Amino acid sequence: MGAGTALAGSTVLITGGGSGLGRRLALAAARRGARVVIWDVSADGGRNVRDEIRSAGGVAETQPVNVADREAVQAAAAVAGPVDVLINNAGVVTGKLLLDAADEDIERTFDVNVLALYWVTRAFLPGMAARGRGTVVTVASAAGLVGVARQTDYSASKFAAFGFNESLRAELRAGRTGVGTLVVCPYYIDTGMFDGVRTRFPRLLPILKEEAVAAKVLDAVESGRQKLVLPPLVNLVPAARLLPVGAFDRLMDTLRINRTMDRFTGRPAEVPGAPGVKHDDGSYSAG
Ligand SMILES: NC(=O)c1ccc[n+]([C@@H]2O[C@H](COP(=O)([O-])OP(=O)(O)OC[C@H]3O[C@@H](n4cnc5c(N)ncnc54)[C@H](O)[C@@H]3O)[C@@H](O)[C@H]2O)c1
Repeated sequence: MGAGTALAGSTVLITGGGSGLGRRLALAAARRGARVVIWDVSADGGRNVRDEIRSAGGVAETQPVNVADREAVQAAAAVAGPVDVLINNAGVVTGKLLLDAADEDIERTFDVNVLALYWVTRAFLPGMAARGRGTVVTVASAAGLVGVARQTDYSASKFAAFGFNESLRAELRAGRTGVGTLVVCPYYIDTGMFDGVRTRFPRLLPILKEEAVAAKVLDAVESGRQKLVLPPLVNLVPAARLLPVGAFDRLMDTLRINRTMDRFTGRPAEVPGAPGVKHDDGSYSAG
């Protein structure tokens, strides 16, 4: 366990806070007494959540930020000011077979799910370390523990996120910075991002509820827990790797992991022109 960061009186910055899990994290953090800063590529999404928080009596601000844009991140961080809890939550999914995915989809997955972790964390970590407190949260995925069919880009990006967190944890521990980390590895959540996915054994591997996941993430931030894997069965994946590859694959196929994406549709945001979608000139739709 790390030191944990109390949310009451803290500033919590949530990337991708304009919808899904990020929205739930923003609402719940505000309820726990945090000042919330919402970053989202969708200006509307961010404003809506900010207004929801304010009308419930909470304190919130929003900035339209594409976290994959390094310069935009630096400029927005200067405006945001000191942050105690950084939740790297923004993410995208393609949901296609390797040969069906467009080159730009693959680039976007790594831009948003991986490289943005560097730009955003590097913007806020110096301030946290100087104050000797805070938590950096990396929202990875169960797909960061096991590769899944139709997720060659997504799953690889989440393995990268998992590794990013583990290396950062080692650096912060060695540097005695007082800054903690938390990595979050959930199975599918009912946010809409993975609409159409199916789970074969819902008792063992249920589709998670976004509100419940958000509450557990914030509990972990406050208690100093460093890894949150949901549901608990997913914790067995690293142990299952002791099996020979063929047996490991058979186990995953028995659990139908590689069929979960067969009917994936995702949310409309995954169509060209929707929020977060990269244009040919390298810019992203702001929604
Ligand atoms: N939904 C799931 O089943 C599931 C499972 C495991 C992990 N996750 C992870 O949880 C996180 C949140 O996912 P969600 O289900 O809430 O998705 P979501 O699509 O509901 O929300 C993602 C948010 O990120 C924003 N965003 C996208 N690209 C951005 C960019 N370039 N800059 C800033 N904001 C950007 C979107 O506008 C959106 O508001 C993601 O990292 C996702 O990979 C989701």
